[in-house]
Amino acid sequence: MSDLSHIDLNNIPEHIAIIMDGNGRWAKSHGEDRLFGHSKGVDAVRETLKTARELNVKFLTLYAFSTENWNRPQKEVEGLMNLLVLSLANEIDEMNENGVRLQTIGNIEGMPKECQESLRDAIDKTKSNKEITLVLALNYSSKWEITEMVKTLSNKIKNKEISESEITDDLISDHLTTRRIPDPELLIRTSGERRVSNFLLWQIAYTEFVFLDIFWPDFGRSQLIEAIYDFQNRERRFGMVSEQINTIE
Ligand code: IPE
Ligand code: IPE
Ligand code: MG
Repeated sequence: MSDLSHIDLNNIPEHIAIIMDGNGRWAKSHGEDRLFGHSKGVDAVRETLKTARELNVKFLTLYAFSTENWNRPQKEVEGLMNLLVLSLANEIDEMNENGVRLQTIGNIEGMPKECQESLRDAIDKTKSNKEITLVLALNYSSKWEITEMVKTLSNKIKNKEISESEITDDLISDHLTTRRIPDPELLIRTSGERRVSNFLLWQIAYTEFVFLDIFWPDFGRSQLIEAIYDFQNRERRFGMVSEQINTIE
């Protein structure tokens, strides 16, 4: 399904989050090393971003490196960091031509200096773009950001900047690294795994999940359209009953 005739262009998720998984297994199945799989993964990112923009998705969040991924072999971690720097340098002009604004979530200060500089540069050069925001989750862990939020809010209470009664779920959202980014309506994970792996635990409270058996390098335009089709055929009840939803519409 690569044409758009099946989907409702007036009901496109504003924010799609993706756990891009399976680069290593894709590489293995092609007799290549894992880093080759990761660089193929960048091609899939390019195509996905292009399609998301075409469909008027406003935020695309990609899980690119988790806090737990530091535990991988050093060679792979270094390869991934180099690939990040290289890809940012390669893509920046096209991002600007296409109105892509780059942002990050995660503990960016814990990234290697060179990555931090490339990211800062790319974020700065794309900050006025308005078509779509590409959010890269780097050195990201949901438990980390929730822990940081708890520390920040406790300090604010201790310093009497806020009182306990002012803590609402909106205030909590405003103290996560995803502040100013709406919660994703759709979360896609490739590679056949059916788990969340410490990604956006707070933000996916009412998100629809699409799990695909293909590896990330095989994901592209038609798979994104198909995932949106799947999303559009779900009934999002938010705790209500079907009849209420249909009356609201
Ligand atoms: C996802 O692919 C990319 C990253 C986590 C950086 P993997 O590298 O996890 O690929 P598999 O899961 O080992 O196949
Ligand atoms: C999740 O993939 C993290 C990213 C896609 C960056 P992993 O491959 O690290 O997840 P697990 O370890 O299989 O849960
Ligand atoms: Mg994996």
